[in-house]
Amino acid sequence: MIIGVPREIKTAEARVALVPSGVAAFVSHGHRVLVECDAGIGSGIPDEAYRAAGATLVEGPGPVWRDADMVIKVKEPLGPELAALRPGLILYTYLHLASNEALTRRLLEAKVTGIAYETIQLPDGSLPLLTPMSEVAGRLSVQKGAHCLEAASGGAGILLGGVSGVKPANVVILGAGVAGSNACHIAVGMGAHVTVLDISPARLRYLQDIMGGRIATVMSNRANIAEEVTQADLVIGAVLLPGARAPRLVTEDLVRQMKPNSAILDIAIDQGGCIETAHPTTHDNPMYRMHDVVHYCVANMPGAVPRTSTYALTNATLGYGLALADKGFERAVAGDDALRKGVNLMDGRITYPAVAEAFGMPCSPL
Ligand SMILES: NC(=O)c1ccc[n+]([C@@H]2O[C@H](COP(=O)([O-])OP(=O)(O)OC[C@H]3O[C@@H](n4cnc5c(N)ncnc54)[C@H](O)[C@@H]3O)[C@@H](O)[C@H]2O)c1
Repeated sequence: MIIGVPREIKTAEARVALVPSGVAAFVSHGHRVLVECDAGIGSGIPDEAYRAAGATLVEGPGPVWRDADMVIKVKEPLGPELAALRPGLILYTYLHLASNEALTRRLLEAKVTGIAYETIQLPDGSLPLLTPMSEVAGRLSVQKGAHCLEAASGGAGILLGGVSGVKPANVVILGAGVAGSNACHIAVGMGAHVTVLDISPARLRYLQDIMGGRIATVMSNRANIAEEVTQADLVIGAVLLPGARAPRLVTEDLVRQMKPNSAILDIAIDQGGCIETAHPTTHDNPMYRMHDVVHYCVANMPGAVPRTSTYALTNATLGYGLALADKGFERAVAGDDALRKGVNLMDGRITYPAVAEAFGMPCSPL
């Protein structure tokens, strides 16, 4: 198979979908890998390292999109990339289609085979290709949230951990999954007062067990969310309904009732956001104020730390990528339930139910 790795073009996105050791793995399995020049530069990987691993370096995105059987990316295709799509191309990347109808329609029209990293799901319900980025986003959310609370950012001027004689900040985390529990670890490590809400008693019990008495866990429902959010200095949204749009847990009215100059960090913005006043921002201009609350809603947070993120991501994506290349699409998905769940679109039809439901469109599962 010919594998294509373009340079990412989303604003401030410096991750790359394959590292030199991944190239070497594809090449050793008999495949050819086309890497766009400078694709790895933002992650500290020079072209020479790819060449040494056996890749063919190509100028510009054209040859990658034209010649590859499978394009491996990080973010969804954008702008000129949409025009380069063609029937039968395997597009293996984050897609987040349930919150993007225009992209869904374009991919259907182009008849690509869209395999979304975020819906590949193991039998225990976990999402192995979302996990490493959720770890990064969860950990980073506290760092960014602390920055939002600084006076120069328009925040209340509160130090997350407080100091002796001064109370720490109240951090409220919605969702005790991968991102939420990683945020919890860092926030506790920075000395904040942390409350975590989830609808899963098992998740709350687990987090309570491993964190000892250092956090409060609260069942997620409308009344408890209202009580906690109005007391918070920093609210971190980290919920997920796999493959579906994020549930809107914090209404605009509730944001109006938050403390002045408090902060919201909606990690779930890539799935449409769990806070009604959240809209996607970019690393160039990540924050805005609404109802006297600082909002940070970057949809590709791991892009801020591309070296860590690129290696964490490619550790998780490589195995499925190799299976697709070695066995071909049909045999690879037939032999792997987790990978089959990643297939969102094929031959002009939606194959993933939650995406079809999001837009009231028909679904024909594989
Ligand atoms: N912005 C970014 O750059 C970025 C990066 C990585 C992940 N994400 C997003 O972060 C979110 C969380 O991902 P994750 O890997 O932690 O998911 P996860 O499945 O591990 O955890 C999600 C948690 O949300 C909980 N939940 C669902 N509905 C809830 C509700 N009504 N109230 C409270 N909790 C509820 C679930 O029980 C689960 O524990 C996702 O939307 C994901 O797409 C964003």
